[in-house]
Amino acid sequence: MRRKLVVGNWKMHRTREANARLIEGILKGRPFAGDVVVCAPFPFLGDLAAMLKGQDVALGAQDCSAHEQGAHTGEVSASMLAAFGCRYVIVGHSERRADHHESDKIVADKAKAALAEGVTPIVCVGETLAQREAGQTEAVVTRQLSTVTHTLAQHISKIVIAHEPVWAIGTGKTATPEQAQAVHALLRARLAAVTPHASELRLLYGGSVKADNARSLFSQPDIDGGLIGGASLKASEFVAICKAGA
Ligand code: 13P
Repeated sequence: MRRKLVVGNWKMHRTREANARLIEGILKGRPFAGDVVVCAPFPFLGDLAAMLKGQDVALGAQDCSAHEQGAHTGEVSASMLAAFGCRYVIVGHSERRADHHESDKIVADKAKAALAEGVTPIVCVGETLAQREAGQTEAVVTRQLSTVTHTLAQHISKIVIAHEPVWAIGTGKTATPEQAQAVHALLRARLAAVTPHASELRLLYGGSVKADNARSLFSQPDIDGGLIGGASLKASEFVAICKAGA
């Protein structure tokens, strides 16, 4: 039985002052039935690690370097994240793939670097609207996933995968539960071909998840929770989504 997982991706939002109120609101909303993670911008990690110490809401980051250490100005290594108490890191978000031209290989190497430090990578895959309309969804997510499965080999069972259709991110257009389930079932079938642990891996859906659509998405057989953008910035909304994972 897979535990549900709800991850808030704060992206480049929030202020240092507002974080305390948001975290307070989230903690007040407990108990949650599944696991809950907040992924914050790098400069906030120290404050948040202190606020979440001993709490059952885990801390995550939104990216890490594919390199272990070295002359890579502006990059943050997985070991630095681990030192600040991060248990998760998002890699390969479509915004990073687009803004920073991250290739499938770089994303896979980042996942590998995270795992080496005991940080669980949440690897994002997803198709654009043009790709979906051209009937390429399966091919695109299969290509994105296969680079990761190839790079991580037997360690693939230690990651979390998030399917985020690019056309659903921040647009208010959510994939229907059936559309999302179809892609998740495909991802799980692809995973089953390379690991005996495919049924244990958690597959998250992301893209305009809100309190009022979370339950119908999370009740699909291969959707194990969500990666939440905008709705993770409001405590009551995020708490409702975390409870929808029950
Ligand atoms: P929204 O929930 O704002 O659509 O963002 C989804 C996302 O990109 C989470 O990583």
